[in-house]
Amino acid sequence: MPKLSVIGAGTMGTGIAQVAATAGWDVVINDTNSDILEKSSASLVKVMNRLVEKEKIDRETADKILGRIDFTEDQQYFENSDLVIEAIIENLEIKQKVFKAVEEIVREDTIIASNTSSLSLASIGASLKDPSRFVGIHFFNPAPLMPLVEIIPAVQTAEETTKQAKDWVDSWKKLTVLAKDTPGFIVNRVARPFYGESLRMYEEGIADLPAGQAGFATIDWAMKELGGFRMGPFELMDFIGNDINYTVTETVFASFFYDPRYKPSFTQKRMSEAGFLGRKSGRGYYDYAEGAVKPEPKKDEKLGQQILDRTLVMLINEAADALFLNIASREDIDTAMTKGVNYPKGLLKWADEKGIDWCVEKMDALYDEYREDRYRCSPLLRRMKDKKQSFYG
Ligand SMILES: NC(=O)c1ccc[n+]([C@@H]2O[C@H](COP(=O)([O-])OP(=O)(O)OC[C@H]3O[C@@H](n4cnc5c(N)ncnc54)[C@H](O)[C@@H]3O)[C@@H](O)[C@H]2O)c1
Repeated sequence: MPKLSVIGAGTMGTGIAQVAATAGWDVVINDTNSDILEKSSASLVKVMNRLVEKEKIDRETADKILGRIDFTEDQQYFENSDLVIEAIIENLEIKQKVFKAVEEIVREDTIIASNTSSLSLASIGASLKDPSRFVGIHFFNPAPLMPLVEIIPAVQTAEETTKQAKDWVDSWKKLTVLAKDTPGFIVNRVARPFYGESLRMYEEGIADLPAGQAGFATIDWAMKELGGFRMGPFELMDFIGNDINYTVTETVFASFFYDPRYKPSFTQKRMSEAGFLGRKSGRGYYDYAEGAVKPEPKKDEKLGQQILDRTLVMLINEAADALFLNIASREDIDTAMTKGVNYPKGLLKWADEKGIDWCVEKMDALYDEYREDRYRCSPLLRRMKDKKQSFYG
């Protein structure tokens, strides 16, 4: 079996180590902080005990998995690794420094990868003497439970590196998709309107209730009840953390040279500034205090359908544009959204069901109403409408 080294024993590093060790790989986890290494080790023991209790695995298997993972502050243990995955703080300078040091330790044929969510792989890879062995391997949180992994070659990455990385991650029973090295890769790019358009409708007061109560509960209701999404956008933002979700939005916006389609919302910025971070702070859009009363949505089907349609067409437009710009294949874009963020359907498949004419007309109606670049229709959808094509037809 090949050997994996993980740099960073935080949330993602610990999860990735569990995935590889479960698939039979020997793993070394490294961190500069010994307390974090101890915490990581203790959390893995806890997870394995829980899996045994629930009879998902037997004791012997759990002990074998734990026995395959070593914890160390010393990166010399990376010497024999076939693959190194970095999951440290999201800071380009620090990552580059770490990669420079790692390259001096590992073999010449060791593949070196980053789990970055928002930095460009090209910029991280540029720190290596041989960037052709470098690739992005982007897991979702929690790594042991989320099936999707985005594989992102940088411009410097050799084809064999991408192929080998994909084969290895596939062998860990993950679903891999290939994405171009552009901001947000697939999932964090295509999902932006789920939050952005909901926030926009909320700011416009579209769903406000007669009593003056803000309408986010109605938007959540519409997206769940009529759209089949597992969580409403405001529930999801509260779950992710309004600070984290805002930072991702702001980073994607800046990375796209301030394309208005990704413009962040003042509502979200103020929530974050006020410390209304969501579940973790006890209050976000919803109040999580014990006994707090949840606001009631306005269950108006016509209004609900308008809310769903507007968000859905913006999501479809984003997915179509990702395909238009060759960020990923049709199948990978649909897989990414159903397996990475649990959407009820692939967005391109959904576009076919609604009809390409419907998508173009809805986008054009929004554009006509607002005259904002944010609502520009993807050229791909327009072309497909003219040629009477569908994504899977
Ligand atoms: N948390 C998520 O939902 C998520 C999802 C996908 C990708 N990511 C990405 O994964 C990476 C890690 O995120 P996280 O949430 O696990 O962070 P985290 O804060 O939980 O863990 C980071 C760990 O790295 C350690 N570290 C910092 N500098 C180090 C160094 N020089 N050498 C070794 N260890 C060092 C820290 O001590 C810390 O334990 C980031 O790049 C993030 O963008 C995070």
